[in-house]
Amino acid sequence: MSSQKRDGFTSKFGVIAAAAGSAVGLGNIWRFPYITGENGGGAFLLMYIFFVVLIGIPVMMSEFVIGRRSGSNAIGAFRKLAPGTSWWLVGLMGIIAAFVILAFYGTVAGWTLEYIVQAFQNSFSGKSQTELGDSFNNFTASTFRPVLWQMVVMVLTGAIILRGVSKGIEKVTKILMPLLVVLIIAVCIRSVTLPGSAKGLEFLFKPDFSKITFKAVLMALGQAAFSLSVGMGALITYGSYVKKEIPLLGTCFSIAVTDTIIAILSGIMVFPALFALGGESVGGPGLVFVTLPGVFQSMPGGYVFGIIFFILVFLAALTSTISLLEVVVAYFKEDLKISRLKATLIATVSISVLGVLCTLSFGKLSYIKLFDKTIFGLADYVSANILLTFGALFIVIFTGWYLGKSKFIEEAKLACKVNPVVLNVIAFIIKWIAPIAIGAVAIGTFFIEGLM
Ligand code: PHE
Repeated sequence: MSSQKRDGFTSKFGVIAAAAGSAVGLGNIWRFPYITGENGGGAFLLMYIFFVVLIGIPVMMSEFVIGRRSGSNAIGAFRKLAPGTSWWLVGLMGIIAAFVILAFYGTVAGWTLEYIVQAFQNSFSGKSQTELGDSFNNFTASTFRPVLWQMVVMVLTGAIILRGVSKGIEKVTKILMPLLVVLIIAVCIRSVTLPGSAKGLEFLFKPDFSKITFKAVLMALGQAAFSLSVGMGALITYGSYVKKEIPLLGTCFSIAVTDTIIAILSGIMVFPALFALGGESVGGPGLVFVTLPGVFQSMPGGYVFGIIFFILVFLAALTSTISLLEVVVAYFKEDLKISRLKATLIATVSISVLGVLCTLSFGKLSYIKLFDKTIFGLADYVSANILLTFGALFIVIFTGWYLGKSKFIEEAKLACKVNPVVLNVIAFIIKWIAPIAIGAVAIGTFFIEGLM
């Protein structure tokens, strides 16, 4: 398809909003706190930030460059830029990652819908952390409601994707992101003013390096990739809709900064409250769903707050699910030459099937375990830590070694006003530092602790 005929983002702000909308989501608000909690707090946070800067931004630049230069989907992009080679397999891995992520992500996005309803019904009121934990466990272990909510998520995602890029994706994200930030800050203020909250801040900000294992380093890298939506072609796909007049570097910085601030704010929402409310025993995927209702109860206007908060978290999740589905749909549509409608239907239905298995793995299918993980746990772990990590590795190797510095800079410098030295530094990181760092973490974990 010629580049003129493709749909595209209409403005710089539109691109940032859509890509930041992809980045900001459950990865920040739900996954970041629980992974940070399980991997040592402050020291994990430092490694996370280190990886966002050193790996996240260079991979994001690479993806945008690959996407815009090729004007194609995640697989098509490699086919166009490296014809006759096997590089398209990197795109294929990305499509698989999108599939797996959307499957379990839909589960959690569905939970937020249940929590909107519960917030409306005032069902958190008067409950202790233990009781909130029990009700979370009972809900997620049931069958009908979690699956129903997941289907709602998938249908809504499919419906937005059907409307195309500028009409669907761009419009929705532009309005909602700023509102979410305001609400998160309000919850942070309540969380840090709860009596006994200081310990939580200490946990989040005082690094204790004795807690760091190789696996924690891999998890920090995986979380950085997951949260920034890099390593699987979402930003190749979005990059293909970006016009030449838009400076990529500034866009990447804005996205990375926004995403990281929201992750840290989510940590400030959760950990002080967790320590103050005495819910330390609640970990894992239930963390925010148990801690935050506790905070809302102790806030003036907490009832309304809880409702709006879960609505916005759901919408943040939706701007991420659409970017995941778009990766698969853009590929189906362009490579298999089918209509957007058909591509959306096939992708939505097939991902939902895997998604339901993830959802049921908290209840009926909880007995199915592989490497000591449930289906959901495995999808969560494998996608971020293996698929995205290796995806990021291959993407920087492709950009640094196959595409090459001059083509990278030629594309990256379009409309870009920064000092050319900065682009040279990024090209150097892409070629040398990022591949070595990602490779070292992956090999270190694999050989020393085993991948799972
Ligand atoms: N970055 C999204 C989040 O933090 C998740 C995501 C990962 C979206 C990969 C697209 C691609 O919620």
